[in-house]
Order: sequence, then C-alpha cells, then structure tokens
Amino acid sequence: MLRKPVIAIDGPAGAGKSTVARMVARRLGLLYVDTGAMYRAVTLAALRAGIDVEDEGALAALAADIRIELVPAEDGAVRVYLDGEDVTAAIRSPEVSRHVSAVARAAGVREELVRRQKSMAAAGGVVMEGRDIGTVVLPGATAKFFLTAREDVRAYRRYREMRGRGYPATLEEVCSEIRERDRIDSSREVGPLVCPPDAFILDTTAMTPEEVVEAIVARVGEAR
Ligand code: CDP
Repeated sequence: MLRKPVIAIDGPAGAGKSTVARMVARRLGLLYVDTGAMYRAVTLAALRAGIDVEDEGALAALAADIRIELVPAEDGAVRVYLDGEDVTAAIRSPEVSRHVSAVARAAGVREELVRRQKSMAAAGGVVMEGRDIGTVVLPGATAKFFLTAREDVRAYRRYREMRGRGYPATLEEVCSEIRERDRIDSSREVGPLVCPPDAFILDTTAMTPEEVVEAIVARVGEAR
C-alpha cells in the first residue's frame, strides 16, 4: 500500500491556501493543518496577556506554555482551541492580523510551533498550509505547492472575507495589511516565506478553487 501523502502548501496572504488545502484534504481523506491558525492563537494569547510583541523571550515562554488544538469540524473547516477555549473567530480579528507577523518573527515561537507541526505530520496523511512548510516543517513532503496571485486579487479576496465576517474594513486597509505582513514574513531570518526550490508554483489569479484543487490532486498523484 502507498504511504499516505504529506502535502505542503505555502504562499503569501490571500493566495487561497486555506480554501484549497481544506478541499484537497477532504477530497483525499487527509488531515488539514492550518499552521497560520497556530501563530494567530499565540498572538491572541500574547495580546490578552499584555505581552509586548517585540519581547521575544516572553513570546517564546508563552508559546511553550499554551495548548493549541485544531479540531476538524463537520464541513471540513477546523475549530481552534486555546487552552480549551474556542477562539476560532477571535484569531481572525483585525487586531490579531495586525500583530501576527511580529509574533511569528520570534525564533523561539517558531521553534516551538514547528516542533508541534512536525509531530502532527509524523504519521503522514496531512495537508499542511503556511509559510515555511515545504522549506522547514516538511522538507521531505510528497508534494510541495507554492500558491500566488496578483496582489490586488489577494487583497480583494481577503476584503470579501473580512466583510463577510462583519468587519468594516476598506479595500485599501486590507491591501496595506497583507502587504505589510508579506513584507515581514518574507524578510525574517527564521523560516521566511520563500518558494521552495522543488515546489510546484500555481498562480491562482484567474483560477477557481476547484481548478486549483484539480491541479494539486493531479500533481500529488504523479508524485506518489
Ligand atoms: O491571513 P492568512 O490566511 O493568509 O494568514 P495565516 O495563514 O492565517 O497566517 C497568519 C500569519 O502567521 C502569517 O502572516 C505569518 O506571519 C504567520 N505564519 C508563519 O509565520 N508561518 C506559518 N507556517 C504560517 C503562518
């Protein structure tokens, strides 16, 4: 029997990673792991505890101390728990989005979360999505994907999502937020957002989620 595949999906904000990773996982019967949700949960905990996002030591200690659970829900989505509390909606707030890249830059935070992510994938059978999955977390993945899209399209997707959740953001605000996050994520020293050299690049600007899923599933089939 073939070993269960391990699929790594990376890319900038709004490239469509979460939507397609969830659909691919459902289609292939794999576990979907949203690593961004883990960085967001640490950020929420830090904001609540009044920790300065520049205080790397305090952030690392916090990350090591909290329990983060990703629980698959009926519809293929995931509920996120922070020390037993459902924070699925809270981690998507504009405040968390504004601070998450500063928290994710802390080496100690990354070390702790990467360790947990590797162990979640140890048995195989996962679709893991983030910024450093193909490069750092799962360098030996069955197949690696790098999703991109034109910046205005990525901003519009995120804008629609925020409005759908009831946040009254403007398109300009959303665009500058994702641009700033991409800048910090791409320039940090540990686990920066880069395209893994062996990744399959998909420009999703003019693709539907279903088309992206088809492309990924086909590629995974070839790689096995
Ligand atoms: O908003 P979007 O869904 O694009 O982002 P996310 O996947 O929820 O990730 C939020 C933030 O977490 C990113 O902007 C990164 O700063 C950080 N992150 C990371 O550093 N490494 C990962 N593997 C995943 C997320």
